[in-house]
Amino acid sequence: MAFKTIIEPFRIHSVEPLRMTSPGARRRAVREAGFNLFALHSTDVLIDLLTDSGTGAMSAAQWAGIQRGDESYAGSPSWFRFLDSVRDLFPFKHIIPTHQGRAAEKILFSAIGGPGKVVPNNTHFDTTRANVESTGAEAVDLLCAEGLDPAALHPFKGNMDTTGLEELLSSRNADTVPAVFVTITNNSGGGQPVSLANLHEVRDICTRHGVPLFLDACRFAENAWFIRMRERGQHSRTVREIVLEMASLADGMTMSAKKDGLANIGGWLAMNDDQLAVRCRNLLILTEGFPTYGGLAGRDLEAIAQGLREVVHHDYLQYRIRSTAYLGDALTKIGIPIVQPTGGHAVYIDARALLRHIPALHYPGQSLAVALYEAGGIRGCEIGTVMFGRHPDGTETPAAMDLVRLAIPRRTYTQSHIDYVIEVCDDVASHASELTGYRIVDEPPALRHFSARFEQLATA
Ligand code: F0G
Repeated sequence: MAFKTIIEPFRIHSVEPLRMTSPGARRRAVREAGFNLFALHSTDVLIDLLTDSGTGAMSAAQWAGIQRGDESYAGSPSWFRFLDSVRDLFPFKHIIPTHQGRAAEKILFSAIGGPGKVVPNNTHFDTTRANVESTGAEAVDLLCAEGLDPAALHPFKGNMDTTGLEELLSSRNADTVPAVFVTITNNSGGGQPVSLANLHEVRDICTRHGVPLFLDACRFAENAWFIRMRERGQHSRTVREIVLEMASLADGMTMSAKKDGLANIGGWLAMNDDQLAVRCRNLLILTEGFPTYGGLAGRDLEAIAQGLREVVHHDYLQYRIRSTAYLGDALTKIGIPIVQPTGGHAVYIDARALLRHIPALHYPGQSLAVALYEAGGIRGCEIGTVMFGRHPDGTETPAAMDLVRLAIPRRTYTQSHIDYVIEVCDDVASHASELTGYRIVDEPPALRHFSARFEQLATA
């Protein structure tokens, strides 16, 4: 008999208590935080779905690796175990460890960016965009049309708009496009995967124009699982084989090991270009550390080395993708609009569709995120006009979508935690018409969503 319940493929080994809070205490806490959920004390949060980055549980084997960590400054065995594990999936010539993904971005774009340059991506993540723009270069998003429609059902909504890419590269000198990026899975566009066929097409376009292709590979294993499940001819392959094919199509990558490295910290930058690697390693020594540890302790390198071996297990990925879909399916069933189909690491509620009475410039995503916290202590993250609406010249326009992301930390919450999340979402949605808009009363010059303070408006 094949049972249909897909269980968590692990049992619990150590536990962290959750602190129960009252609605009144949460209302006070969020007011003190200027209605910015990043400013809350995490002990005031019951179910923390702010991010899936660095917030997962590590396995017993990873903790054992932490004990084995060798802290030699240069050439430590932990570094070589890390290198072997990375190369087993991503056999690039140069692997440059960094303390997290954005450090890899900062180093790479410092080396290849600058005024007059343009970097296309299916969708830049916020730190990626900020790192491109901080060099004076332009970050251009080229997402397929289906990816821009939250309700559209398409298996690979993270695909790059290859017609747009061809046009962009045809209209410019190749030396003004230092790299094309593809983000797998497409986080800012709903955690949606990119197909192998699309990656091949992008590769061909890049080759024709003589432009290198880089992967932003944070969630490579989840992307590979979607390819295995959804793309014709892929089902009999292993995830590792699919990952190796994705890697073979690229000239380099940036990585945050806080996602599919199953670690709490870490990342790397990889490439085949020798000269670029020299420039990047020089920057690494200035900002991160010696090339055999980057910004990491030996024990972190061990945790990542083991995490990379675990993340490509099919039992783990089946549970991971199915448990995220469990939340997405339940919200859909009760009529809450989400980005369809459910992404790999998160469910994205379409706040613009749920709160039609709140105009985009009054931040419907922020309004919904605050309401979920007040009602049930759930911390999600606005991905919309607060995050992307303001431009480097200071003007503000509505973002393409106003979403609230409920990101699922890896191997951390059980099905009953998620059942509780579903109940809270249902309750908030049933009062949606009473929610009001917000305005920003204080914001920094860049990446405003992390520290802006808000004021609640009396009406939408
Ligand atoms: N690229 C993507 C697609 C990401 O999702 C992230 C981080 C990064 C790069 C940067 O990596 O955090 O290690 O510096 N995303 C986290 C999130 C923060 O919540 O989605 P990092």
